[in-house]
Amino acid sequence: MCGIVGYVGYQNAVDILIDGLKHLEYRGYDSSGVALMADGKINVYKAQGKLQNLIDELKTKSDSDIKSNMGIGHIRWATHGLPNQINAHPQTCNCGGLTLVHNGIIENYASLKTELEKEGCKFKSQTDTEVAAHLIAREYDKTKDLVLAVNNAVKQLKGAWAFCVMHKNEPDNIVATRKNAPLLIGVGENENFLASDIPAIIKYTKKAIYLNDGQIARISKNNIEIFNPDLSIADNKVEFLPFEPLALSKMGYKHFMLKEIHEQPDVVRNILQDKIFDEISDIKLKDVKLTKEEIKNIKRIQIIACGTSLHAGLVGKYVLEEITGIPVDVEASSEYIYRSTIADKNTLVIGISQSGETADTITAIKQVKKKGAHVLIITNRNESMLARLSNSLLHVNAGIEVSVAATKSYIAQLISIYLLAIFMAQTLDIKTDLIKDIKHELLILPSKLEAILSNCSLIREVAKKYSSYKNFIFIARGINYPTALEGALKLKEISYINATGYPAGELKHGPIAMLDETMPVLAILNEGIVYDKVMSNCEEAYARQAKLIGVANHIDDKHKKLFDDYILIPDIKDIVSPALNVTVLQLLAYYIAEYLGKDVDQPRNLAKSVTVE
Ligand code: M6R
Repeated sequence: MCGIVGYVGYQNAVDILIDGLKHLEYRGYDSSGVALMADGKINVYKAQGKLQNLIDELKTKSDSDIKSNMGIGHIRWATHGLPNQINAHPQTCNCGGLTLVHNGIIENYASLKTELEKEGCKFKSQTDTEVAAHLIAREYDKTKDLVLAVNNAVKQLKGAWAFCVMHKNEPDNIVATRKNAPLLIGVGENENFLASDIPAIIKYTKKAIYLNDGQIARISKNNIEIFNPDLSIADNKVEFLPFEPLALSKMGYKHFMLKEIHEQPDVVRNILQDKIFDEISDIKLKDVKLTKEEIKNIKRIQIIACGTSLHAGLVGKYVLEEITGIPVDVEASSEYIYRSTIADKNTLVIGISQSGETADTITAIKQVKKKGAHVLIITNRNESMLARLSNSLLHVNAGIEVSVAATKSYIAQLISIYLLAIFMAQTLDIKTDLIKDIKHELLILPSKLEAILSNCSLIREVAKKYSSYKNFIFIARGINYPTALEGALKLKEISYINATGYPAGELKHGPIAMLDETMPVLAILNEGIVYDKVMSNCEEAYARQAKLIGVANHIDDKHKKLFDDYILIPDIKDIVSPALNVTVLQLLAYYIAEYLGKDVDQPRNLAKSVTVE
C-alpha cells in the first residue's frame, strides 16, 4: 500500500503535495512525509501518525524552509519497520543528495542491504525502501544521470514498486518508475504531477499518462519524457481522467462511509442504465467479449477476490449456478495463488476487485491468463491494472469510494453479477421466470433501498443498544450466507468488535457453545426456501438466552417473541435480497462505530487498496 505524489511546476509544491496526500489517505495513514527541492538543496519533513501531524510539523517551519516549486510526498502503510518517523518516507541516501518515496515491497532488500553495508552505506531505518535510496545513489555516482541510475538500480530489485526520485544535481526533474504498483503522471500547463491514484491530482488536471511496468519517466515543469526499460523513447498516450472533484467531498455527511451508503440507490440506477430496460428485452454488456460458442464451452467458473469482493463472489456462486447451471468455485485470491489450480480455455475466471489494484488478485489473474482461461474482471476502476489484464470487463460504475470500508462498490458488484448471469443465460437461449423476476426486482431495487435509507432511526437505536457488546454472531442461509459474512466484516473493520458470520445451519455444529446473554446473534431472514430453517436456528439461539436481532422482510406474530429487536425491510425475491439486506448491516456497523467514536473512514491498521501480497 502507501500513496505517493510528486509535483513540479510554478505553484507552491508543499500545498499541492499535502492536498494530494489528503486524497490518498485511504491508502495508508500511519506516517507521512515530503521532500522539497529548492536552490539545489532538498529539505525532508516527516511525521509519525496521521497526515495532520505532518501538517502541524510543517506549520512550525519558516516560509523559506518550505518554499519550493518541486517535491515528492508519501503516506505510509507500514510493511517493513515500525510506523515511526525514521521509517516514514521520503528515504534518503547517506549524503542526502538523493531522496525517494516508494509504494510496494522490495523482496530482496535483505541481501542488497548486506551488500550495500559492505560498501560502507549506513542504514538509518528498518525499511526496505532505504535500500533503493542507497542503490540508486550508488548507480548515480557511476552514471551521473538519474534516469540511467534508476533504470540500472531497478534491474537489481525483486518485488513491486512505484518510485518518485529526486537528486540535488538534477534540480528540475523528478524521475519515476513502477512495476506492479500504480503510478500515473498528471499532465498540466507549466506543471506536471505524479500520483498513485487519480484523486490526488484531479483538482489540477483531467489529463494523465499511465506508465507501463518497467517504464521510467522524467518529468519537469514543461516536459514529460518516458523511456522503456531498454531506454528507447516510449509514446504512451494521454488519457482523460474520469472523476469529478465533487465526488471527493463528503457532501454534508459526517463520514464518507455514510455518504457512500446513501449513494447506493443511484449506484444501482447508474449501472442498470443502458443495460436493462424491462423484464423481457435482452440486456447489453458491451465489454463482455464472450461469444455464444465460448459460453457454451465453459465447463467451470472460478471467482477470485478478496475481502468484500470475495463476499460478492460468494453471492455470485449462488446466482450463476442457479441461472446458468455452470459449476462455480469461489476462492480468496491469496489462497488461489500458492497451489496447483486447474484452469484452462474452458474456464471462465471472474476477478472481482473494487480497486482493480489488489496484489493477490492481480497475481492470481496473471497465473490463470497464462493457462488460457478467459478472464472477466468486475471492477470499479476501469483504468486499473486488473481492468487492463481482462479479456472481458464489467465496470461497476459506483463512482469513487473513499471510505476504507467498501459499501456502494459491493452493491454494484452484486448488480454486475446478476447482469452477467442474465447475459450468459440469454446468450445460451435460457429463458425462465426467475430471470424475469430478477430483472423486475433490479429495476425496483433503488426505491426499496431508498425506503431503508429514509428511515434509519430504528437501525440507529439498535446500534446504540448493542454498541457495548464485545462479540457478535451473524447467521443466514443460502444466498444470504455471504451477507452474514459481509455484515460481520463491516462491523469488525470499523468498530473492532469481534464478529463472525456463520451459515445458520452450522450453529449447532460448534458455535452454539458460545451462546448466552452476552452474545448478540443477528439473523437474516428472507422469505424463501430457507426462511423456516433460519427461524428454527433462531429458536435454538433464543433457547440459549442469546440476544436475538432479526433483519427480515416478514416475521409472523408467533415468532416475534424470539427477537429482542427486529428491523423489517421491504419484500424482495430471495435471489436479489443480498443487495437489499446488506444495506441494513452496513448502517448498523456504521452507527455502532460512530456511537463508539471510531475513526469510521480510516480504521486502524487498514488501507483501502492492498497492493502488497
Ligand atoms: O479493491 P478490492 O475489492 O480488491 O479490495 C479487496 C479488499 O481489500 C476489500 O474489500 C476490503 O476487505 C475492504 N476493506 C472491505 O470493506
